[in-house]
Amino acid sequence: MSEMKSIGILTSGGDAPGMNAAIRAVVRAGIHHGMQVYGVRNGYTGLINMDMHELDLRGVSDILHRGGTVLGSARCLEFKKPEVVKETAEKVKASGIDGMVVIGGDGSFRGARDLSLAGLPTIALPGTIDNDIDCTDYTIGFDTALNTVSDCVDKIRDTTLSHNRCTFVEVMGKEAGYIALSAGIAGGSEAILIPEKEFDIQEDIVQMILDCRARGKYHYVIVIAEGVGNTQEIAKKTEEILREEHNIELEIRACILGHIQRGGNPTVEDRIVASQMGVHAVDLLTKGIGNRVVVKKDGKITDLDILEGLNMKKTVDADMLRLADILSL
Ligand code: F6P
Repeated sequence: MSEMKSIGILTSGGDAPGMNAAIRAVVRAGIHHGMQVYGVRNGYTGLINMDMHELDLRGVSDILHRGGTVLGSARCLEFKKPEVVKETAEKVKASGIDGMVVIGGDGSFRGARDLSLAGLPTIALPGTIDNDIDCTDYTIGFDTALNTVSDCVDKIRDTTLSHNRCTFVEVMGKEAGYIALSAGIAGGSEAILIPEKEFDIQEDIVQMILDCRARGKYHYVIVIAEGVGNTQEIAKKTEEILREEHNIELEIRACILGHIQRGGNPTVEDRIVASQMGVHAVDLLTKGIGNRVVVKKDGKITDLDILEGLNMKKTVDADMLRLADILSL
């Protein structure tokens, strides 16, 4: 029998496809262990205001396949204040809730750690399309976003080819280039620009275009991560260099995919990983364990101390970079 009788769940930060699958898993696993489960509205903002309601088995029916988060999400600056965290943890415990599950990015993990340290055992689940959480190989939402981006790149390639143009496709990822790298490889892009690897317009773009032209290729799709810089400016600069220094008139377009990448039905991968992580989080809480982040490492679902997780540093897979270089010819 579980040590905890009642737990809460919230989603925080940018939403990600698969968050609903995780909510469903936490609710159903909690009820399986004889707990009551409360859904908190709009992230930490809702927790501060005790904006929550009990979720039963039917309350999470038919959400597994839906994008977004039925609980709502928010970025809450107020929750960075230690006195707010302390007061909130006390209010939540006084209401009879013994533990929490928080799904979000690394900003949300800090809140989860602070809640745990304030006496409310909290488990963090990695949920962000960016896959930029250092302690885990995978974050809920990444695969769905990749599929969306890859589909967009395919479509953009059709029109880029028809007009013999160059298109820069800007993808999300905050300061990280994981979406760009994977989607660029999946979409067969001629170049991939990510913040983790310095680039030079002359060497990495203009020269690539000149080399491609020499081999008879006249259309180019370049996937660029938002963290690299101003895509419109990079596109304009490339056009100018080609015109002024090489006498080449190439039409260049910039296409910023934006929030379309965050929506849509989660893929099978996201549904399964989210379900596994949700059940794992509840397993920890049943033992009275908090202050852990659930991760996927070498294909296995496991967990580690939140602070330890926050202090880790992820690097871009060198093999993936090599693959991108070899295949972009
Ligand atoms: O972290 C998810 C993410 O979509 C990032 O890729 C992006 O930089 C950011 O959120 C956008 O945030 P907002 O929805 O607040 O514009």
